[in-house]
Amino acid sequence: MHITKIQLNNFRNYEAAEISPCPGVTVLFGNNAQGKTALVESIILCCTGRSHRTPRDKELIRWEQPGGHVRVEVERSDGPHEIDLTLSPLTRKTVKIGGRTLQRTGELMGHLNGVLFAPEDLRIVKDGPAERRRFIDMELSQIRPGYYYTLQLYARALNQRNALLREIGAKPQLRDMLDEWDAQLAKYGADIMERRRNFIGLISQSAEISHHEISGGAERLTAAYQPSISSEETGAALKDTIIRALKLSRENDIRRGTSTVGPHRDDLALLLSGMDVRVYGSQGQQRTAALSLKLAELDIMHREIGEWPVLLLDDVMSELDPGRRRHLLRRFEGVQTIVTCTDMSDLAEAEIGAAYRIDNGTINKA
Ligand SMILES: Nc1ncnc2c1ncn2[C@@H]1O[C@H](COP(=O)(O)OP(=O)(O)OP(=O)(O)O)[C@@H](O)[C@H]1O
Ligand SMILES: [Mg+2]
Repeated sequence: MHITKIQLNNFRNYEAAEISPCPGVTVLFGNNAQGKTALVESIILCCTGRSHRTPRDKELIRWEQPGGHVRVEVERSDGPHEIDLTLSPLTRKTVKIGGRTLQRTGELMGHLNGVLFAPEDLRIVKDGPAERRRFIDMELSQIRPGYYYTLQLYARALNQRNALLREIGAKPQLRDMLDEWDAQLAKYGADIMERRRNFIGLISQSAEISHHEISGGAERLTAAYQPSISSEETGAALKDTIIRALKLSRENDIRRGTSTVGPHRDDLALLLSGMDVRVYGSQGQQRTAALSLKLAELDIMHREIGEWPVLLLDDVMSELDPGRRRHLLRRFEGVQTIVTCTDMSDLAEAEIGAAYRIDNGTINKA
């Protein structure tokens, strides 16, 4: 698939701007703080319904403006798709697909698929489990729209259970009501765990191959699912296991006023030739591991949806040595790639389809 047009109105520092990326490599270059990442962000917003930089729509609207607007045209194997997003500071965003208003933002997923690799992706490797869960959840949501709803339902049940746990401190007679929330957590939790397990299995294979290529065969990356409730089961058996685990931790949960086991405590283990990359990896090894996860994501999406998603590389070229840069660009021939950089010489070896200079919220073909 490829994006044929992006139109921005009062989005970040853009007042009104338009760009038609080419199907190959499009370069966005310019000095710092001109709007390169903002443009990439508008694409991510159309992929997932949310920015990769902020959960608050208000920050996306150009300062002192009453609202913002992003419109993206995508050409897919099944024809053209048009995504239209209106941002408002007070109400929820409105999303239209082909002119039809969606009831829920979640329905947006699957019209435009994108994979972003940005410097902050290093956090997937360096930060705590929440960052890795977020990575898995966002990627899975894009290829399995139903997963997003399940996550929301799980989060709602979890909030209710946690609220009840805190109440039980003062009102022990409410204790039996936990059964209902345990059942709900087990229902949605089993679904989440199965999907994460399968997805991480796929990621692990692909990431290992990518990492092997990038590191010149020196290192072996393993990504493994580390569920909070360990189980190899599926379906009803998995649900029962979750219920049992929740029952077992009930007293502890009441004492702490929070649910201490379940998929909201899952993690993704990243090992480099058996060593925990997060704890022992060098900066370069961590960066390569993060990059490999992203490359895996691109492969998986390709396999899942039957066409290549759009690849967005924000500010990463300058961080890679020439060998790795070459590998990246070779690997993605035939994939629409949108690359940002401050210096065009970072892309000296690339086959560039179009280059645009981004200058204080304006886009000009170079
Ligand atoms: N809501 C907003 N309204 C107006 N301007 C904004 C808004 N949010 C951010 N900006 C400004 O937009 C500009 C562009 O930011 P952006 O992150 O896109 O820059 P960039 O070109 O990617 O720079 P760098 O090379 O440093 O990454 C910044 O000056 C920022 O302060
Ligand atoms: Mg930037």
